Amino acid sequence: MKNKNMNNIINHLKKFGFVYQSSKIYGGLANTWDYGHLGILLIKNIKNLWWKEFITKSNNVIGLESKIILNNKVWEASGHISNFLDSLIENKVNGKRYRVDHIIKKINPSINIEKLSNLEIETWIKKNVKKWENEKTNWGKIKKFNLMFETYQGPVVDLKSKVYLRPEIAQGIFINFMNIQRTSRLKIPFGVGQIGKSFRNEVTPRNFIFRTREFEQMELEYFVKPGEDEKIYNEYINKVENFLKILGLKNTTRKKHNNKELAHYAKATTDIEYDFPFGKGELLGISNRTDYDLKNHAKHSGKKIEYKDPNTNEKYIPYVIEPSIGVDRLMLALLIDAYKIEELKNDKRIILKLDKKIAPYKIAVVPLNKKNHSKFAKKILNILLNKNISTTYDENGSIGRRYRRQDAIGTPYVITIIDKTKKEKKVTIRHRDTMKQEEIFLDEIDKYL
Ligand code: GAP
Repeated sequence: MKNKNMNNIINHLKKFGFVYQSSKIYGGLANTWDYGHLGILLIKNIKNLWWKEFITKSNNVIGLESKIILNNKVWEASGHISNFLDSLIENKVNGKRYRVDHIIKKINPSINIEKLSNLEIETWIKKNVKKWENEKTNWGKIKKFNLMFETYQGPVVDLKSKVYLRPEIAQGIFINFMNIQRTSRLKIPFGVGQIGKSFRNEVTPRNFIFRTREFEQMELEYFVKPGEDEKIYNEYINKVENFLKILGLKNTTRKKHNNKELAHYAKATTDIEYDFPFGKGELLGISNRTDYDLKNHAKHSGKKIEYKDPNTNEKYIPYVIEPSIGVDRLMLALLIDAYKIEELKNDKRIILKLDKKIAPYKIAVVPLNKKNHSKFAKKILNILLNKNISTTYDENGSIGRRYRRQDAIGTPYVITIIDKTKKEKKVTIRHRDTMKQEEIFLDEIDKYL
């Protein structure tokens, strides 16, 4: 999506209070963003829809809220301590570290890095990359860098008190598998969903909220009988694409991982990609995690983790199909998709064509004339708020500017209180996308929602 300018979009979102640069008064913190009221409303709508589509609508999927900090053995068993690593090389000229796979991919994408040893990669980079990011190079040795954030639990800072912030929310579900199965009495296949923060000490966080070190995930772990995994994996790919359509995002593509690209736990993964202004990128992924996680937790904990089929008494460790979606990344794609600049006759307008299901406000109430109509407008505002409809109010400035402001934050409808409102119970309703206005009776408002 090269025709959209990322900086313009970021400035727009900052201007209207969707996002703020975090810690700005202290000079900011690299690639860290806070969400303002409109951003939160949008995120809540996305998360609520996910919960509805993946959990509420299924009679065999339930929720969980597990902790960010877990016993370290969880990360040993899951493979994150030994596998969640990036290989970095330092340019001693500027003291910066770079991911070796990024360097090689940029200089010679045909090289298969998986087939090379660290020494071979290091030698290749030293020989072929004499300049990097406009800087002369003096490369050091390749070092492995774990992406998990570390902190310490309790007053003593030593190896024994070291803990990690979770890099994915899925593990909280796996370690609770037996609790969940026993208390819910669900039969396989069944699923467990969770929404929560994840942390990764990314070497190169970038592209606004696309890749950050603190982010939120919506993950579903769907437990199935081995042998039925492939069918359900494909079903979930379709289900996730359907979810994106419900949110109003249509232009996405599938990318199946080849063996070299698979995470240490996955047998198969399909990414859903979106064409961001900075290039095509992974929006979310659906993986077949097999029995990798449950098996390893059983092994490391010494506890029995298995499922007994109540009809056949057959015992097995279920396979897991996992659709995993980054909330921030999905919000970014939705905002980019919605952002439009429309040339009008003597003017232009910026509009966020968000689907009305996720728009921060569904309605704005504006009095045509502050002096004459604001009292009644506030009455209508309160009626809508009491009905739990996300509504905003604006009485300042020209009516045209107020309409533009609502276009810019994606409000699908503006209700204008006019002279006829009090006597005839009529208002005008303005449609964001067409800018058409029509007169309707007050009690017809509900039908637009
Ligand atoms: N449990 C599986 C898992 O975490 P992943 O592909 O590493 O898989 C899933 O992450 C999704 O989480 C990604 O597709 C993306 O939407 C989001 N995500 C991952 N890392 C992120 C980051 N650093 N910043 C923002 N979102 C991220």
